[in-house]
Amino acid sequence: MNEEANIVPVTEPERQNHYIGEVAKLLRAREKSLQRKLTCYIATFGCQMNARDSEKLLGILKAVGYVETEDERSADLVLMNTCTVRDNADQRVYGRLGVLKGYKQEHPDMLIGLCGCMMQEPSVIEKIQKSYPHVDLIFGTHNIYKLAELLYRLLTEQRPVIEILDHADTVVEDIPTERKYPFKSGVNIMFGCDKFCSYCIVPYVRGRERSREMDDILCEIRRLADSGVIEVMLLGQNVNSYGKHCRKEVDFATLLKEVEKIEGISRIRFMTPHPQDFSDDVISVIRDSEKICRHIHLPLQSGSSRILKLMNRHYTKESYLQLAEKIRKQIPDVAITTDIIVGFPTETEEDIEDTLDVIRKVGFDNAFTFIYSKRTGTPAASMDGQVSEAFIKEQFARVLQLVQETSKVRAQGLEGQVTDVLVEEINEHDPNLLTGRMSNNLLVHFPADPALIGKIVPVRLAECKGFYYLGVLQNN
Ligand code: SAH
Ligand code: SF4
Ligand code: F3S
Repeated sequence: MNEEANIVPVTEPERQNHYIGEVAKLLRAREKSLQRKLTCYIATFGCQMNARDSEKLLGILKAVGYVETEDERSADLVLMNTCTVRDNADQRVYGRLGVLKGYKQEHPDMLIGLCGCMMQEPSVIEKIQKSYPHVDLIFGTHNIYKLAELLYRLLTEQRPVIEILDHADTVVEDIPTERKYPFKSGVNIMFGCDKFCSYCIVPYVRGRERSREMDDILCEIRRLADSGVIEVMLLGQNVNSYGKHCRKEVDFATLLKEVEKIEGISRIRFMTPHPQDFSDDVISVIRDSEKICRHIHLPLQSGSSRILKLMNRHYTKESYLQLAEKIRKQIPDVAITTDIIVGFPTETEEDIEDTLDVIRKVGFDNAFTFIYSKRTGTPAASMDGQVSEAFIKEQFARVLQLVQETSKVRAQGLEGQVTDVLVEEINEHDPNLLTGRMSNNLLVHFPADPALIGKIVPVRLAECKGFYYLGVLQNN
């Protein structure tokens, strides 16, 4: 054993803190010879979990001395945090890798790293090794916290580093994190998924469900509040099964009540609940809460009980409708949004009629409609009755049209009201406007002083533009 190995801590996060120090030394030497700072760029694909993971990755990169740049082309380190939920997510990554090859030719010292869900698939790793040899670093979803250690290996071994773990036993706490917004933050409450919906790759690439201990979550949120965060989004693939296997007996409703008590936090969101385990307790906690936002994303996937059974979703058209009705009755101002998949194996026009029926009856405030994508290794991929592209195209258009109609009607209903919004940023298209988010997740754009960013202010919803509002700031 060499001397260095002797002093490397074996426990986390001490081990990573050690490597952060080591990498920082190596990078400082490099900066000295280049006479400039080293820059990094992270491209994030996929869901809020990945967005949160990228904040952790950026936290580590900043801790070792990188400066974030918006210019991917000139960056010294480019990291792509990938998603593989649908095939088009994979294709986007391959496309970007082609572009990066050109950048690396111009800038041979550029380091290119890939991580995230797509990397958990062995066929992807094979393809990258064969066709994209310009990639220097590959890791998966279970070892994000080890970025400093992997970088240390990359910089000292001078050859590509690949480390994919097939599962994670523990949840590593206290890794540096760099938040995108100073005033709002995602908070992981659980990792992985045990639901195994028959179309979905997530349980295979994110592993088994693991809940964080409630005390760790509350401690993180208290710290966030102390540093100026006023809105938290509790993240998990199936948040209402939170708490299984925790040391103390706890469930999602209890967690929500505890988060509510944290001073400084004004808004609480969560993503994603599963319709199967949405308890009455959770509904009443939301109803009675001052802080939990009036928005529930409740993925439907299909309105046909026959398809839902094949999808392994554990609910029926009727039970979903009952749940939505119960939620709307108890929390009248709530927005319900959803995800819908069109083109699942064996789906017929009759099944789509059921989906349209649910859309009409629930009147979703918004819905993401996806074309079914066959994911190798999932049960649905080997089902008979894969449906034709022409059928999917036609049915997708019908679903999309109805969803757009209902969400417009829902949004219009708010015209003239004054509502609190959290001001998030300067409008992307018009720098004279600010963009704020209502409790129900709708956006409103209004002229005001950018000093209001990060504050909750009352805004009159003057004009509905379909999926968003133009508003007028009211005096506090
Ligand atoms: N855990 C959440 C979200 C998971 S992924 C849930 O249960 O809903 C986000 C969305 O992607 C899903 O809701 C689903 O609508 C969609 N999705 C997942 N796998 C898909 C596939 N193979 N093809 C098309 N859409 C898919
Ligand atoms: Fe995928 Fe279903 Fe788990 Fe959501 S609940 S991540 S759709 S397996
Ligand atoms: Fe994609 Fe992974 Fe999220 S597959 S949707 S980034 S959990």
